[in-house]
Amino acid sequence: MEDLTPPRDSLDPIEIASRDEISALQLQRMKWSLRHAYDNVPFYKQSFDAAGVHPDDLTSLADLAKFPFTVKTDLRDNYPFGMFAVPREKVRRIHASSGTTGQPTVVGYTDNDLDAWGTVVARSLRAAGLKPGDVLHNAYGYGLFTGGLGIHLGADKLGLSTVPISGGMTQRQVRLIEDFQATGITVTPSYALSIIDEYAAQGRDPRKSPLKVGIFGAEPWTNAMRLEIEEAFDMHAVDIYGLSEVMGPGVANECVETKDGLHIWEDHFYPEIIDPETGEVLPDGELGELVFTSLTKEAFPVIRYRTRDLTRLLPGTARSMRRMEKVTGRSDDMIILRGVNVFPTQIEEQLMTVKALAPHFQLELDRVDHKDVMKVVVEPWPHSVEGGAEAARELAAKVKQVVGVTVKVEVAEPGGVARSQGKAVRIVDNRPKT
Ligand code: DLL
Repeated sequence: MEDLTPPRDSLDPIEIASRDEISALQLQRMKWSLRHAYDNVPFYKQSFDAAGVHPDDLTSLADLAKFPFTVKTDLRDNYPFGMFAVPREKVRRIHASSGTTGQPTVVGYTDNDLDAWGTVVARSLRAAGLKPGDVLHNAYGYGLFTGGLGIHLGADKLGLSTVPISGGMTQRQVRLIEDFQATGITVTPSYALSIIDEYAAQGRDPRKSPLKVGIFGAEPWTNAMRLEIEEAFDMHAVDIYGLSEVMGPGVANECVETKDGLHIWEDHFYPEIIDPETGEVLPDGELGELVFTSLTKEAFPVIRYRTRDLTRLLPGTARSMRRMEKVTGRSDDMIILRGVNVFPTQIEEQLMTVKALAPHFQLELDRVDHKDVMKVVVEPWPHSVEGGAEAARELAAKVKQVVGVTVKVEVAEPGGVARSQGKAVRIVDNRPKT
């Protein structure tokens, strides 16, 4: 694989500034952001007042811990525009997440917000190894989802030639990657697997594709999956993280030269890790729930927003800004199976070690005789000669040994596991609702 490390002088100076400089900028911006939220969003005024804190109480970054958290239901309760901190006419763009409960979460951006978003996405794409003139095949969905349009903003800023293909029509995805000679691809890791399948269906070798790097996110994926995708395409695979409430894609990104977790663009987003049970701030290095405070956002400031994503903060490496470890999963996606906590990523990790099985999977939960049971539905590789039963036994044994739970493994026909064109649905919960 080609060395895609960006030249040092192409980076934004703040990416490699000293920690002192970064902290000073953060403090100055945090004071502004708290004041902006308090003065302009009734929800924040009420929640700060109820907690007995005022923006003037913040004199150091650590003081942030005195301020109350914001959670997803707060955003829903203020549907649609109640969390906006600027008059509606200043909102240049509105995105929304569909949400499983039907009530979408609405977010907004001013001109300056769109500019900042473009800056952090451009920084992310550059960290991934793309440079002006590269052709980017952007297969994240365009629309209310922030993936497609968010990446597009940054790609324009970096000076790429963007193909706004969005998700779906997989045959055409392959054709245009080849015909337009795309050097970069932005897509969910699960949909990337469908694209790999389609290469095989068309009798083409993905290793001969023009792609040099893929930038994968919007859902959890493991380092084992990284190796699988890198091997299939003979290209680099790096991780991009973000959420619409905080901005969209480009809150954090891995550097292609280290691939050791995602640098958080801390000049715009201040991270904390908390104990999800007690809300206590945990020191860097400890696993917990990621919380963000926006430092520059005008239309939709978020103060101590609980993401529900579980990860840990690590010191900077390729950049001065801190890293977050690859996300283990969302606390909502944690399955408690007879007392053991299980994340889909743990199953993925084991699946990747079973040679006869393809990387597609879904977890089905049922209740049998008052006990919860989990079935892992997988597929053999289309041309695998090994018996499915043997592979199923191997996977069940590995899950038992490493994850510590007993699961049933069902090997479906090739193509039998539902494919995603965006975020994969990993869990199908058939348990009776109590
Ligand atoms: O998924 C934004 C995005 C688009 C990120 C494209 C990266 C690429 P939402 O739809 O609001 O926004 O979903 C946010 O997705 O809280 C995580 O649970 C999950 N997620 C996003 N990126 C990653 C990642 C977009 N790299 C939610 N690893 C977040 C693990 C991720 N989970």
